[in-house]
Amino acid sequence: MNSIEKLTKATLFLAALFTGNLLLAQEEPIVEAISAAQSTPIHVQLGLSSTMLFIIMTGFTLLLLAVVWSMASSTKNILKYKQDQVRKKSNGTKALLALFALTFSTGAMAAEEGGGSTSLVPFPDSIFWAYITVDIVLIMIILYLAGIVKGSISDMIPLRGMFKWKRWKNLKARWKSMLTKSVPIEEEGSILLDHDYDGITELDNELPPWWKYGFYITIVWAVGYFFYYQVFEIGDLQEAEYLTQMADGEREIAEYKAAHPELITADNVELLTDAGAISEGRALYDQNCASCHEPAGAGKTGPNLTDDYWLHGGDLSSVFVTISEGVPEKGMAAWKTKMPANEIQAVLSYIFQLDYIAPPTGREPQGELAE
Ligand code: HEC
Repeated sequence: MNSIEKLTKATLFLAALFTGNLLLAQEEPIVEAISAAQSTPIHVQLGLSSTMLFIIMTGFTLLLLAVVWSMASSTKNILKYKQDQVRKKSNGTKALLALFALTFSTGAMAAEEGGGSTSLVPFPDSIFWAYITVDIVLIMIILYLAGIVKGSISDMIPLRGMFKWKRWKNLKARWKSMLTKSVPIEEEGSILLDHDYDGITELDNELPPWWKYGFYITIVWAVGYFFYYQVFEIGDLQEAEYLTQMADGEREIAEYKAAHPELITADNVELLTDAGAISEGRALYDQNCASCHEPAGAGKTGPNLTDDYWLHGGDLSSVFVTISEGVPEKGMAAWKTKMPANEIQAVLSYIFQLDYIAPPTGREPQGELAE
């Protein structure tokens, strides 16, 4: 295994661990197959219907388009007249905004009707990524236009008032003091404590509100958590959660294996022992193999399958290969073209548990004795 393969495997393992599928993590090839085959559509991951995601993405893209449109016309005006024109809203913008509003209101309606789960519009992941790409390009255009506007209005004094930098700055300052409640450096004297250790003094600042209230929230959260998990036992604790996930994983693997018989190969073929598999194997054997190997496996045209002697190897994977590839020159067909690998596995499991039929009823042993 080279280092890239190792890295890929480790990543897959971690991904499986993080998605909570410990069991899947142990079955790397299947993890690979599952993650390739049934990666959940993005709208499902986001918990939205495809219609809703379509509406949101379309709305957002239209909004960006509207911004680009209005910025482009503003930029044009600025560059052309460098005067009043900028304040005029272009009709195009209005039309786009109206369209935008319309999209959202229909979106809201659709969501109300179907409780958010309808999928009127299919929205495949490829389209989602196409939208994202377009949006990124639009945002880049917006930033570019913003650069032009900023560069060209710096020399247009009358326009400056429009943007009210001051008000914005005040807002920022107020927000900051709300977050930290810090005392401005000029007034620090008022909160200076009266001790002094070799020139090291201490301020008596208040706790930053964001921190203090965050702390209160954790306390409230802890109480809720305690009652939810420990007192009323509504939520599953780790162990129960782990067991559910293991069971889910096991079910998923079983489902996946059932749906993908091609995953069974000579390297991983297993001897099935459950009654269902054996009776399935028996039915397949009676229908396809009994004519040459006799119903109980004693052998006729084909060799005795109940003894421990094998012409082509007696271990699971050799017998699997013999049945799949056949021995065409001796009259034994390659069954892989007629049976999926899971059926070959069932037939094989059936053969392996047949009772020994000695000669003269059964055919003489052929080949070598298996260990
Ligand atoms: C048309 C007759 C015919 C049918 C049908 C047939 N086989 Fe065979 N089979 C043979 C012959 C002949 C051989 C011996 C090949 C050789 O001598 O190398 C053989 C060999 C085998 C062997 C290898 C035995 C050994 O000693 O290595 C297995 C296992 C086997 N068959 C299983 C099956 C199974 C399972 C089926 C049904 C899915 C089946 N066969 C259907 C004719 C048949």
